Amino acid sequence: MKVKVESANLFKKKTAMLCGFVLEDSDKILGLEKIDFKLTPAIKQSINDMGGKFGKITVIPTLHKNTQRMLVAGLGKREKFNNDTIRFVSGKIAQNARELNLKEFTIIVPPSFVIEPILSVSQIVEGCKMSVYKFENFKSKKENITPNLTILVSKSDKISKASKIAEIVSDGVVYAKSIANLPPNECTPTTLANFARIIAKKNKMKCSIISKNELRKKGFGGITAVGQGSKNEPKMIILEHAGGKHNEKPIVLVGKAVTFDTGGISLKPGEKMDEMKFDKCGGCNVIGIMKAASELKLPLNIVGIIPSVENMPGGESYRPGDIIKLYNKKTAEILNTDAEGRLILADALSYGEKQYSPKVIIDLATLTGACIIALGTNIAGMVSNNDNLAQKIIESSKRTSEDVWPLPLNDDFMDLVKSDVADIKNTGVGRAAGTITAAAFLRNAIENTPWIHLDIAGVAWTQVATKEKPYNPKGASGFGVRLILDYLQNI
Ligand code: BES
Ligand code: MN
Ligand code: ZN
Repeated sequence: MKVKVESANLFKKKTAMLCGFVLEDSDKILGLEKIDFKLTPAIKQSINDMGGKFGKITVIPTLHKNTQRMLVAGLGKREKFNNDTIRFVSGKIAQNARELNLKEFTIIVPPSFVIEPILSVSQIVEGCKMSVYKFENFKSKKENITPNLTILVSKSDKISKASKIAEIVSDGVVYAKSIANLPPNECTPTTLANFARIIAKKNKMKCSIISKNELRKKGFGGITAVGQGSKNEPKMIILEHAGGKHNEKPIVLVGKAVTFDTGGISLKPGEKMDEMKFDKCGGCNVIGIMKAASELKLPLNIVGIIPSVENMPGGESYRPGDIIKLYNKKTAEILNTDAEGRLILADALSYGEKQYSPKVIIDLATLTGACIIALGTNIAGMVSNNDNLAQKIIESSKRTSEDVWPLPLNDDFMDLVKSDVADIKNTGVGRAAGTITAAAFLRNAIENTPWIHLDIAGVAWTQVATKEKPYNPKGASGFGVRLILDYLQNI
């Protein structure tokens, strides 16, 4: 989808569909107030009938030579607006344009007395771009073409800049989704490493891949153990964006990329096992963030570390009862081979801290089913060792409408992952606080760096209880890409 920002000349604009917003119980199209008298009684009637209710849409034939259709979209009551209102409704508009098979459509930005135009423009771009994406790689016939978007607004440098940023951010989300949606036979750790290489080359980032033998030699015991059961060999993928000063400490982002999680010897039951192709979402989202961060030329040093494995049962697999040595030399007793994420993440976190002495470490991982029990499928779990940093992430969460909720981590939880025979064990005690005990395991992998862990098990892809959003169609969601990019932009 191409995006163009134009200064409004409503009398002259030629477009396949002119789209405007209305507030609840108003018959005025926002931004069209001045030519309201020009609207035909039929159009006014249609607007009245739809009532401006949130998310409601009506498409009206106009018989006008400049625009054959007018689309009116309800925003609901002004006092009920949140940081997702325009994004959500814009997404609905874009999906309508796509279903009508239009080559392009035009959205009129509401005036500033309703909502700040810069904010509107960002949300319109994000909502539209994210909503027209559909995973069709394996369909013999593509259903629709992707329409282009023109935004009518009183143009300024700030507006153009906001639009450009929103485009790059949404492209990052769409890219993350597009690799996360790939089936596990088409996306192995090697495939992911190749994607990272391509992105790095295009965006002038450094990319290094640590392969199986080197991982073993360098002491990455977690990723080596989990990866040894699959013929698709494990990879540690590292992307570096050097936008900051030469010796400035970086931000390290870590993403879990289990390209398929069968559970290993502690095999999962068959129901919904197919969804474990999404166990690579954390890693895919980190690649999407790195892509966007480099395109935005963020003035920061950022390192993305993506430990990638396939967790398979077989004659070479690691087993319950094994004791392994992690990258930071701590020993870990394996009690369940399905708790594989924390093992590969622990290696990546320790490596990130030791190698880069970062200011901050953030990890994204589809880590625990328990997180879905605790918080459902619309909010990510957050665990941190630093309240100030957690507060920053909460602020970004509010701006982006990617919801997170903090969970506690004190020493009592740390006790729950102590092992009788090794330093730590890879499960907690029974099912108590499964999301937190997983985080407690990760906490063992870092010393004192401010750290955020986001458990995205419930939000990384659409599940039965997922709230329907136009910009989050079936499949991977790219959760965290907008959130973390907002955080990075506001440092
Ligand atoms: N990838 C899963 C977590 C998961 C399950 C995410 C379902 C989303 C939906 C993870 O590797 C896992 O299997 N975790 C176990 C941990 C347990 C064995 C301690 C879990 O949550 O059951
Ligand atoms: Mn697992
Ligand atoms: Zn997993």
